[in-house]
Amino acid sequence: MILVTGGAGFIGSNFILDWLAQHQEPVVNLDKLSYAGNLNNLANIKDDVRHHFVHGDINDRALVDQLLKQYQPRAVLHFAAESHVDRSIHGPAAFIETNVNGTFQLLEATRAYWQTLAAEEKSQFRFLHVSTDEVFGSLNANDPPFSETTAYAPNSPYSASKAASDHLVRAYHHTYGLPTLTTHCSNNYGPYHFPEKLIPLIISNARAGKDLPIYGDGSQVRDWLYVADHCTAIRRVLEAGTPGDTYNIGGWNEKTNLEVVHRICDLLDELQPKSNGSYRDQIRHVTDRPGHDKRYAIDARKLEKELGWKPQESFDSGIRKTVAWYLANDAWTEQVLSGEYKNWVALQYN
Ligand code: NAD
Ligand code: TYD
Repeated sequence: MILVTGGAGFIGSNFILDWLAQHQEPVVNLDKLSYAGNLNNLANIKDDVRHHFVHGDINDRALVDQLLKQYQPRAVLHFAAESHVDRSIHGPAAFIETNVNGTFQLLEATRAYWQTLAAEEKSQFRFLHVSTDEVFGSLNANDPPFSETTAYAPNSPYSASKAASDHLVRAYHHTYGLPTLTTHCSNNYGPYHFPEKLIPLIISNARAGKDLPIYGDGSQVRDWLYVADHCTAIRRVLEAGTPGDTYNIGGWNEKTNLEVVHRICDLLDELQPKSNGSYRDQIRHVTDRPGHDKRYAIDARKLEKELGWKPQESFDSGIRKTVAWYLANDAWTEQVLSGEYKNWVALQYN
């Protein structure tokens, strides 16, 4: 049994779907179903007895204690977080509450549970913390990509809260010996991605005939990784990572935001052409994000060399799969767009 937090979000749900497709081992999924949590992401496993969904908050210490005691997991995989930079600019408090306090509560509960385990189970146990490359800050065009030893320099309330949680995880390993693993992944994309983030927002706005908002000049660079590749990397780190170590996960796919948006428009022109013109005609440059990080890039050689992981998808193959998934899953997008999302769009883009 493994315990996953945030398994109804974008990456967590992809991870659980993937896990159950490859393993017999059951999963307890603790998720508070914030605006970003969506049980429709898990519709394909709704009758699967190996998936135990628990609606709750990682800050609820009594609940986490009870789940650990009841299910006796061999690992905790911690995905739950507030994850959107723009939301962290409008309202940082929720990021401190979940990413910092929530991670602290989860670590405390896990430490107490782990200390009750027999020696063999104790040494086999893992706490895998899913972090981000954004804790390393912003690169200039010619800087080498982030490695595991790059100094922390978070620039947004989101990345600062993730950095704080990373430090707590590190301290729990060094102080208490908790067998932790931390991963730093670049920008993910793929199925079930909430349409507040660049790629699903552009796909959904394009199809709805709306503006495609590019912050500033669109020259900012992100390193994009297809979500299934992130899931494979996490499974590999869980299986073979060295306790106390950190692992960078990236796709060697640096693209400017304009390149990404152009690629999506071109794919839509091919797969679902408009009656006149190109989707590119909908592109609009809007006010830039405050403190917008210029470039992220990941050096994933440690994971490749030590654990033999490599991404399966190139950006071209992954973005084609992603656009095709959104074209085939209108009902999912419509359900997401009908909820709290409308308030967010009004706040951010009006
Ligand atoms: P997401 O926002 O789509 O999902 C987060 C999930 O966590 C949601 O289901 C939400 O309901 C749940 N959650 C939030 N607060 C909670 C709480 N207090 N208790 C229990 N559940 C709670 O995020 P995502 O994109 O799937 O990201 C997952 C993890 O991966 C995060 O830790 C994020 O920092 C990290 N990450 C994301 C990316 C990316 O590109 N999306 C890249 C690198 C790392
Ligand atoms: P996002 O998907 O929010 O991820 P992150 O900020 O964590 O990298 O944004 C990806 C890039 O796209 C980032 O440089 C900001 C930019 N962006 C836009 O230009 N327009 C938008 O509407 C959004 C949501 C993002």
